[in-house]
Amino acid sequence: MEAIFHALRASNVARTQQLETYLRIPSISSEPQYGPDVARCARHTALLLQQAGMESVTVHETAGHPVVVGRWEKAPGCPTVLIYGHYDVQPVDPLDLWSAAPFSPRYHDNRIFARGATDDKGQVLMHIQAVAAILQQHGRLPVNVIFLLEGEEEIGSPHLPEFITTHRRTLKADLALVSDSYMWAENRPAITTQLRGLVLLDVVLSGSNRDLHSGSYGGGIANPLEMLARMLATVKDQTGTIVIPGFYDEVRQPTALVRQQWAQLPFDEAQYLQALGLTQGWGEAGYTLLERIWLRPTFEINGLWGGYNGPGGKTVLPAKANAKLSLRLVPDQDPDTMAERVKAYLLGIAPPGLSIEINRIPGGGSPCAVPAGWFALTAAQRALQESFQVAPLYIGEGSSIPVVADFAKILGIHTLLIGFGLPDANAHAPDESLHLPTFHTGIESLVRLFYHLRDSF
Ligand code: BES
Ligand code: MN
Ligand code: MN
Repeated sequence: MEAIFHALRASNVARTQQLETYLRIPSISSEPQYGPDVARCARHTALLLQQAGMESVTVHETAGHPVVVGRWEKAPGCPTVLIYGHYDVQPVDPLDLWSAAPFSPRYHDNRIFARGATDDKGQVLMHIQAVAAILQQHGRLPVNVIFLLEGEEEIGSPHLPEFITTHRRTLKADLALVSDSYMWAENRPAITTQLRGLVLLDVVLSGSNRDLHSGSYGGGIANPLEMLARMLATVKDQTGTIVIPGFYDEVRQPTALVRQQWAQLPFDEAQYLQALGLTQGWGEAGYTLLERIWLRPTFEINGLWGGYNGPGGKTVLPAKANAKLSLRLVPDQDPDTMAERVKAYLLGIAPPGLSIEINRIPGGGSPCAVPAGWFALTAAQRALQESFQVAPLYIGEGSSIPVVADFAKILGIHTLLIGFGLPDANAHAPDESLHLPTFHTGIESLVRLFYHLRDSF
């Protein structure tokens, strides 16, 4: 492995430039006008896989953005690793809060700044470069690899489950490997052992057939915006517990072991809050802040609007009120069941005489958890420890990577989640960045991981 590490270090500049080129493609999956850029990014991803030495590379059209698959399977008897990542990125707004253009990468303070630097192009490229480095030195890999790189993760992977189902025979692997999450801190790697699931809902509450003068009509009839606010305010009680019937029915209780492990993490709540400009947390009574984010389900209002939002005042009684809602789910909650429960609850308390429409927004997925003692965790622990010189921490995660639960459901495999983003990477926010020393050390750890996976299989 020393020869590989030597060659990697000698090519730091060239490999960083490869990242820079990748980050110049504005592959925003949610905005239709970027469709051609997303397609171009898919082709560029395929090119990177080819250059890395994959034996076969294919770009698959879907009803949405393309899926890119790259394969190298010449290690009979060795495990097959399905490496998943996404080449699409989040939108860039608010643009005026960026220090520089989001798709013109900029170097500062050991970091590269651009949309997608951490989430997830930088981490995708780490896997590609790790595999390329091994192939370049040895002409062969210690494991079989199948890259599965998609362009719709940031919109909830609406077409990927069908793609995986259709191709389940050729995607058969012994484990999935994903780098689309965070380390604990700089120089403190982490292995993520669970992700929350996600359900998105769109609510419209309508009253009169047009906006009305709030003086002429106010007090006489229901105001949809007020009524929707009242309805949503009943969802949680004063202690943050969700009162929707059945909401917690399937929630798996945390084991004493997990609670104890997480309680021992070097987490400083006051410092965490201070970094957010806050002095207090808020949420369900009886759980620590990390427990509330990692292993409790939530109901969030992502948007609530209607009526007048311009400068000054306007005396209007709006005809319509809108809300965007999201649920984060934990094992063993089912997205369809949970969406139905929330829908039934809101329909049940809608004021008579107003009409309400609740629609599921496509995308999202189930929660998932990795079993303790799984062989891949041991291999990852060794690889991270050897490269970062410190033992990785086992953490949970409140966000979602929708397809991970599908790997278990459709392919019957667990997923190893080792992320190389730093907590202040600003994913989804202005000035997203990737810490370059972590990028390089992380690639080394991935090289080690492939060998350890072979040895511990
Ligand atoms: N990479 C993130 C999820 C993530 C973030 C995992 C931080 C671990 C640590 C992923 O790209 C993401 O943003 N997921 C979205 C999914 C949604 C847009 C369908 C999420 O969780 O909101
Ligand atoms: Mn991501
Ligand atoms: Mn993301």
